Amino acid sequence: MDVPFDHLQARRINNMTTATLNNHTFDFISNLVRNKAAIVLEPSKAYLIESRLNPVARENGLDSLEQLVTALQRPGSQKLNQSVIEAMTTNETSFFRDLHPFDALRQTIIPELIQKRSKERSLTIWSNACSSGQEVYTIAMVIREYFPELLGWKLKLIASDLSTQILDKARQGIFNQTEVNRGLPMPMLLKNFEKKGIAWQIKEDIRKMVEFKVINLVEPFPFMPTPDIVFLRNVLIYFAPEMKRDILNKVHKMMKPDGYLFLGGAETTMNLNVAFERTQIGKAICYKP
Ligand SMILES: C[S@@+](CC[C@H](N)C(=O)[O-])C[C@H]1O[C@@H](n2cnc3c(N)ncnc32)[C@H](O)[C@@H]1O
Repeated sequence: MDVPFDHLQARRINNMTTATLNNHTFDFISNLVRNKAAIVLEPSKAYLIESRLNPVARENGLDSLEQLVTALQRPGSQKLNQSVIEAMTTNETSFFRDLHPFDALRQTIIPELIQKRSKERSLTIWSNACSSGQEVYTIAMVIREYFPELLGWKLKLIASDLSTQILDKARQGIFNQTEVNRGLPMPMLLKNFEKKGIAWQIKEDIRKMVEFKVINLVEPFPFMPTPDIVFLRNVLIYFAPEMKRDILNKVHKMMKPDGYLFLGGAETTMNLNVAFERTQIGKAICYKP
């Protein structure tokens, strides 16, 4: 039987006894992350609020989530608000995630765009909601490996996320053994990374190919070069349908008309009434503006 939400028992998480997560606390936090990041938290996700925000409360010298909610409403609490939003995002990612989009890039999309853009010699790829950067570094490694001629073009790899903290990690390009074990073929690891203590750092010339930017999908997009290819994967899944539609319409307006959009494996434009046309390249699903 479901326990009514406002009767959750007090629990001990990370050695900290948390009072019942009351409706006011849940409503405040879920409204904050919905308004600022578009992320929808259902009541069944109350445990996420507790497990992710108790450490934020503690780091800020606060004893409970109720105290955190009070502190979030004080003037000058923008940094605390940002920490809460960042703590509530999910940063799961990996090199060559889902594989097929990278096969489509290599076998079809990049060769096609190299031909079409041969006069202007310019190509822009945008990895949105890039988390710690594995996606954009995968794209950079594919380009270096298979299309080295593009290194002489106006090649822009832009990677953006809402979280400044995760972008700092992405910029550093340092990954632990577990992270490099996920999806990255050993020859690519040895060729493109240097050992950094017990971790691995992607080489500087690859890091330099990428421009990292803070971009919140909920806000108007900043001025940027018109992307030919957009990766927008595994982020719309957290948003309400009307927000997905708004974001996809904004992306549609800004892309090259003959470009390509990739969404995550569990995401689609279906039922969202947006102008993208679904298409299949090999085993990859992508969308044409
Ligand atoms: C699950 S990761 C996906 C990473 C990568 N795109 C992939 O597919 O492997 C989701 C990312 O979306 C970011 N995010 C969440 N809400 C966002 C928003 N409103 N604007 C921009 N990025 C957002 C999070 O910070 C997180 O890094």
